[in-house]
Amino acid sequence: MYKKKSLFVVFEGIEGSGKSYQSKKLYNSLIKRKLPTLLTREPGGTPSAEKIRKVILDDYFYPKSKEKFDKNTDTLLYLASRNEHVLNKIKPAIKKKNIVICDRFIDSTIAYQIFGKGVNKNLVNSVHKFILSNLKPDLTFVLKVSIKKALKRLKKRKKKNRYDKFSKNFYVKAQNAFLKIAKKNPRKYYIIDNSDNNKDVEKKIFKIVYSMIKK
Ligand code: TMP
Repeated sequence: MYKKKSLFVVFEGIEGSGKSYQSKKLYNSLIKRKLPTLLTREPGGTPSAEKIRKVILDDYFYPKSKEKFDKNTDTLLYLASRNEHVLNKIKPAIKKKNIVICDRFIDSTIAYQIFGKGVNKNLVNSVHKFILSNLKPDLTFVLKVSIKKALKRLKKRKKKNRYDKFSKNFYVKAQNAFLKIAKKNPRKYYIIDNSDNNKDVEKKIFKIVYSMIKK
């Protein structure tokens, strides 16, 4: 038996950490048990937020443009996309007592924009205050990966995005930021090593989520 209650689960980690794969696995396991579950992602998740995602990610690949978005513009676009997503998808689903699985959320902004790019944290925090009010993930899985393995997984990808081309050093910085955030709040964060393509990872994740929803 399951509790009829909402649960907001987030997966975080650098590219190649396997978070999209693990979020899908968790989604499939919950749906198989007929639990009302939604799988979504950031940036994106709604038609308008996906439009903003395209603007952000295309900026990097604009072949002839010399003018790239300033880091604050870029950050505000991530936040604008989050606002659309939170308002139109996450909050309504939580209100309906659904389980929401989100591939990336606020910690990605902290890791990539604040720690990675040096964006002012007051800018991010003050916008978050407006757009999130009291919305917080119940549970966040930070998937840790050896940088070597992450880069190997990225090489295999057909579709690249902007950070797929970033330096090793950027990934180290971003991953350390995720780990630092997670260690500050061990009650709500689980750090899981996902370097080895091990089936046990999906079982472990399901077990943790299951323990929170079973009656
Ligand atoms: P994805 O490929 O994992 O879907 O993410 C798209 C890119 O957006 C990825 O390189 C990480 C980046 N990103 C940020 O830089 N800040 C954010 O707040 C979010 C949600 C994603």
